[in-house]
Amino acid sequence: MSVSQTDSTVTVSIGSSEVKILRYGATVLSWTIDGKEQLWLSESAKLDGTKAVRGGIPLVFPVFGKATEGPTAALPQHGFARTSTWEYLGQTSEKPVAAIQFGLGPENLSEEAKKQWDYNFTLIYTVTIDDTNKTLETRMSVENAEQSKDFDFNILFHTYLRVPEIANVEVTGLQAVPVHDKVTVSKYVEQAAKVTVSGEVDRVYENVPGTVSIDVDNKPYLSVTRDNVNDVVVWNPWTEKAEGLADFTPKQGFHHMICIEAGDVSKWQKLAAGAKWEGGQTIKAHL
Ligand code: BG6
Repeated sequence: MSVSQTDSTVTVSIGSSEVKILRYGATVLSWTIDGKEQLWLSESAKLDGTKAVRGGIPLVFPVFGKATEGPTAALPQHGFARTSTWEYLGQTSEKPVAAIQFGLGPENLSEEAKKQWDYNFTLIYTVTIDDTNKTLETRMSVENAEQSKDFDFNILFHTYLRVPEIANVEVTGLQAVPVHDKVTVSKYVEQAAKVTVSGEVDRVYENVPGTVSIDVDNKPYLSVTRDNVNDVVVWNPWTEKAEGLADFTPKQGFHHMICIEAGDVSKWQKLAAGAKWEGGQTIKAHL
């Protein structure tokens, strides 16, 4: 295992696997196996700490989307985790996997964010690559460090997966799952055994029972398993939305990505003062 650092990034590699993380947002920017990139990153993504990264794995916490009421209502879309600079805590394991950790607490937040969500908390984010199994695991622990105040949170690993061509992608593992469809503004139960994308998709699949897999040309390509997180958001901006996002390039880039986002967003996770929660996702590349 080797770890190299710059002022803004930490890169860890083991065998033929490598992952690169931006301290800003603790955003995974790249995950390669034998040099093959598994994540999609916009060519015009801001990596200078002025905006959440468009691509990779931005972290959504403590709110998904924009709340209109309640204790997170003052926060911007998707909260502050993806727009705060995390502390690098070091490496936590040796062969056969490589793992590194980042931490975030109120002391790392801007004065503005602290005012917008006034709770004492500790987030520990662990990123692990396993070169034998060809997996990337992202795992979060959330501690409520308050003496007596409970808090509620959403959490989401907003993963932009790279795919050869979206037209040839089929997503399985979502059939019979209740959906909140943000494009059609409706709720229904997913009928399709294989979900395909041929236009804008923005759906929250609630309480997904098992692994969600991506097949390309009828072959397993990537799969996402979750531990203690219930929901999966599927997002592809397609033509018009991509046009409207200044940091989404090339504009046809939506052909080569699909966001499969594991998290808890359809309802609040409640955390009592002093309590701790932990959950994560494991993405496997079928090479
Ligand atoms: C998804 C949301 O998780 O993130 C979409 O479901 C949203 O509604 C997308 O458009 C991207 O959000 P942002 O804030 O990074 O542009």
